[in-house]
Amino acid sequence: MKPFARHRRLRSSENIRRMIREHHVAAEDFISPVFVVEGEGIKEEVPSMPGVFHYSLDRLDEELSEVVELGIPSVIVFGVPSEKDACGSQAYAENGIVQQAIRSIKERYPSLYVIADTCLCQYTDHGHCGTVEEGEILNDESLRLLTQTAVSQAEAGADMIAPSNMMDGFVAAIREGLDEAGFERIPILSYAVKYASAFYGPFRDAAHSSPQFGDRRTYQMDPANAREALREAASDVAEGADMLMVKPGMAYMDIIHRLKERFDLPVATYNVSGEYSMIKAAAQKGWIDEKAVVLEMLTGFKRAGAELILTYHAKEAARWLREG
Ligand code: PBG
Repeated sequence: MKPFARHRRLRSSENIRRMIREHHVAAEDFISPVFVVEGEGIKEEVPSMPGVFHYSLDRLDEELSEVVELGIPSVIVFGVPSEKDACGSQAYAENGIVQQAIRSIKERYPSLYVIADTCLCQYTDHGHCGTVEEGEILNDESLRLLTQTAVSQAEAGADMIAPSNMMDGFVAAIREGLDEAGFERIPILSYAVKYASAFYGPFRDAAHSSPQFGDRRTYQMDPANAREALREAASDVAEGADMLMVKPGMAYMDIIHRLKERFDLPVATYNVSGEYSMIKAAAQKGWIDEKAVVLEMLTGFKRAGAELILTYHAKEAARWLREG
């Protein structure tokens, strides 16, 4: 018989498998999303995202105490305002729902790392991520409002700004605005590579942020393109991004990997709502082992090259990891 490699020698017991394991997931890899709404006494499950809730500020502790207790270092805050208008003014209002939430979180959990999502789509009545004129999503005009949004989030106490709007030049504009306002210490996590994805469906239900006309394909990226992702990321790096994000995650593992190889900034990925809801639905039907599938997927993100994973599974996964 010809000599052949005996790979199974290193798979023979759990201990040897543990000893040579290349990648690990841990609670500190996670960013946990929180949805805040106006009003009082509200804790409402998002119908298409079992286990994800909308909270009014007075009940947010129920979520945050668990996040902190599980050792998850960070949350990203999404606001669902009760009023929307053409220019998304609640996104940058001093007393907007996100600004209030950030202030209250930093007051009660000073060491929790609070990331602000900087976009307009939840706040505009047309549901687009910028200002609109005659059916066009304007670029440079939107930058002004996005910068105003980022500065107001920093003023409220955000530790990091995560712009997700996909207008050209948003990193440069926001960096300049933050610096001018005295926030040069605040980093920017750029959603550098954000695809026009069908996997965002459940989030748009959750945040009431579906575009009221057209779609987002004039600013979000074509899922068929990978080299374009490198151009997008390169310009964000040049504009001063501190970290890069790939969104969605599961169908874009190759993009995570390419960014990691090409750039020396930390890479994050957003494991989006549709990815979450598919797993939840299959698990509810008893078709998959939810814990095993989630931990395998999260490990896949690490293997692909993500340092950080923004995921709705964060709390459950942290609990499972603790149980061992
Ligand atoms: C837009 C935004 C999106 C998500 C969060 N903020 C994408 C979109 O609606 O185009 C989706 C997140 C998810 O699906 O979990 N700024």
